[in-house]
Order: sequence, then C-alpha cells, then structure tokens
Amino acid sequence: MFKKMPKTIDGFSKLNKLEKVNWLVSAFFNNDEKMKEVLMQYWNTNEVLQDLHDDFIENTISNFYLPYGIAPNFIIDGKEYAVPMTIEESSVVAAASLVAKFWSTRGGFKANVISTTKIGQVHFMYQGDRTELNKYFDSKKEALYKATSAITKNMRKRGGGILDIELRDKTTELANYYQLHVTFDTADSMGANFINTCLEAIANEFKKEDIQIVMCILSNYVPECLVRAEVSCNVDDLYAENSEVLAQKFVQAIQIANAEPHRAVTHNKGIMNGIDAVVIATGNDFRAIEAGAHAYAARSGSYKSLTNATIEDGIFKFWIEIPLALGTVGGLTSLHPLSKLSLQLLGNPTAKELMKVVAVAGLAQNFAALRALTTTGIQRGHMKMHLTNIIKQLGASEGEKDFLINYFENKTVTHNAVVEAYEKLVQDK
Ligand code: MEV
Repeated sequence: MFKKMPKTIDGFSKLNKLEKVNWLVSAFFNNDEKMKEVLMQYWNTNEVLQDLHDDFIENTISNFYLPYGIAPNFIIDGKEYAVPMTIEESSVVAAASLVAKFWSTRGGFKANVISTTKIGQVHFMYQGDRTELNKYFDSKKEALYKATSAITKNMRKRGGGILDIELRDKTTELANYYQLHVTFDTADSMGANFINTCLEAIANEFKKEDIQIVMCILSNYVPECLVRAEVSCNVDDLYAENSEVLAQKFVQAIQIANAEPHRAVTHNKGIMNGIDAVVIATGNDFRAIEAGAHAYAARSGSYKSLTNATIEDGIFKFWIEIPLALGTVGGLTSLHPLSKLSLQLLGNPTAKELMKVVAVAGLAQNFAALRALTTTGIQRGHMKMHLTNIIKQLGASEGEKDFLINYFENKTVTHNAVVEAYEKLVQDK
C-alpha cells in the first residue's frame, strides 16, 4: 500500500539544500522530478554567488527572480539618472520611462529632503507615582546616553547618533503604559540594527524593580524622515490639446482620492509601484517603506492621497510628500551585487539623494496613472501588454505578431479573440 509521506519534519534547517529540496518534493509533490527541476533550474551556476544568496535568509531552496529594469531620462534637480526598478508588474517601468522623458523637457523633477529623523521606542509599564518617574528619568538621562556611547561612536563620526531621549506618558491610551521615545539620525544607513541595539542598551540602563520593560523596537512610522518631490509647468504644456480641462480632471482625480479611501488606496498603490521598485532594486526594505507610507497617508485620521496637485495662475504643480527611511550603506545595499550596481548607477547617492530619487519614482508613477485614467483609461496600455503576452504564448512569428497588433488596434482584447484571430491567420496562409 502507498505510504503517505508526513508533511511535517524535525530538523529541516539542518538538512543541506539538496536534502531540503528532496524532502519537499517527496512530501508535497509526490516525488515528481519535474518539481525538483523547476526549483533547481534557478540555482546559479556561480557557486559563490549562489552561496551569498542562500545566506540572505534561512531554509533557502531556490532563487525567485524578479525582472530588473531601467527607466532612463530622469532629471532630478538638474542631474540625469537612469533609475533601476525591480518589479514583476508590466507597464510600470514603461510608464516611468515615458514620464521621465515627458518632464525632462519641462524642467525635470525638483526634490528636497525635509527631515531625516528616525524613531525608536522602549515600551514599559510603571504603576508608581508619575512625579517619581519623571525625577528618575531626569536623573538617568545622562547615563542613558553613556550606555550607548560605544554603540554610537562610529555613527557619531558619520554625523549621526541619538538626537533626543524623551519620557512619554501614554497612560491615557493604556493603563500604566509609558515609553522612552528616542530620536535618531542614522546618516546614510537605514539604521534598523543600530536603533534596536541602542534601545536595548537604553532599556537595560533604565530598568529597575518597578519599571517593567515590555519591548524595545524601532518604529517604521517616520513622519520626520520626509522628502518632497515636485514637477510644474504651464498648464498649456501639459497636454497636446484640451489642456486646461484635462489638467482640471487630473487635479479632481487627486481630490477624489482625498475624499474617498477606496480610491486613495489604489491611488497610493500606484505610487508604491514606483517607490517599491526602486527600494527593492537598491536593497532597501520595502515592507518598512510601505508601512510608513500608508500610516503617513492616514495621519489626518482618514486615508488620503500621498500626492497633491494645484493649478494656479496657469501653472500646474504636482507633488508628493512621503516618509522614506532609506539607506545607501550597510545591510543588503552592499551585499547584493545588483543592489550595489543600482547604487553605482545612481552615482553612489547619500541616503538623502536616494530619498529624492525614490520619491520622484513614486510621483512619476502616479502622474502616468492619473494621466491615463483621466484620458484614455488605464486598460488601453494594459491590454497592449496583455495582447503581446498572449501572442508570445501562441508562439506567433514576427509577421504574425505585427498583424495581430494591428488587427486589435481598435478591438477589444480577450484571450479567446486573440486565439481565434491567430488561428484564422494561420489557416488563411
Ligand atoms: C496598478 O498597479 C496601479 C493603478 O491602479 C494606480 C491607480 O489607479 O492610480 C493604475
């Protein structure tokens, strides 16, 4: 009788990579060799490079490729950039490239970093007298800095360090809850490890019998690590015709996002298409960026657009303000060969410069989306891509491809319609 393989295992992490694959394929894929091939075809033949990737995470069994594309022709504060983007979604890089070119003839993008402060917190419980706690904090403040001085030494040399340590009373939100709210400048590093190490040293110095430390952790909500990017031009230079009306519609699209969270989420998702792609390509943590961006979008109490636009005195202005805690040194940025290359491509930027490039990528993406949505609609571009994908799947020749693209210029693209048109074309030959 067929013996069912157990789907759970002890000591999986101790197996080598091939043993892990073998176990997985036997337990979950009925020993199907094809599944093993699928996994192993992505193993890099350069063993040193593969080992590097294996060690980024735990229990690695393969690599999951994402396309790495380039959006050239970005002009930011007068400097030319070819922006690296890692993303699986079609049309995003094309849109960024088109928009970069468009604004390159209209003064380019302007960007400025408003602030670079990062935050970490020691969360603790205290049931005693508030004035006593305040006194204790005041008496300890100097020692808290001292407790971190060895950790912050190098960071201080690079212009960063701890900016302030504040005692915050949160007892109206939660009984007995207080925190040490610590602000940091982490210079060109994202600083997650640095912040968490400092916090743990601070907590260790601060703790005593009646102070119960619950946890120490950085915050990914960084409203004071903020960058603004903008474009502007004469309204008449925005569209080939009907510019004033279309520019109004563009502004209304943002007003709608501000009035309606369902729309705002999709609106901001489009922005994050551009942001995440550059964040990933440069080896930064896109989950941290996502979490912080959406929290910022909801800072007023309702979820709103991260971008804004105005038309004043015949000038169209479009901008984004977004918190971006990014690093250009440390972490994956210097470990992953492609992240390193991305940063070199961007001219080895400081964290502040990278904040500008990433914000611009988000703004560009939103410009492309809103321009399409308020004019031709978004499906036109998407369907073109859908059509070429179906044609590719069908194995059509270059001539057949040209014919089909032409044929569907003014027709609705569905999978069936393309297959039918292709079959007819082949039969008629
Ligand atoms: C798709 O990934 C992004 C858009 O939906 C963004 C938007 O609607 O603004 C096109």
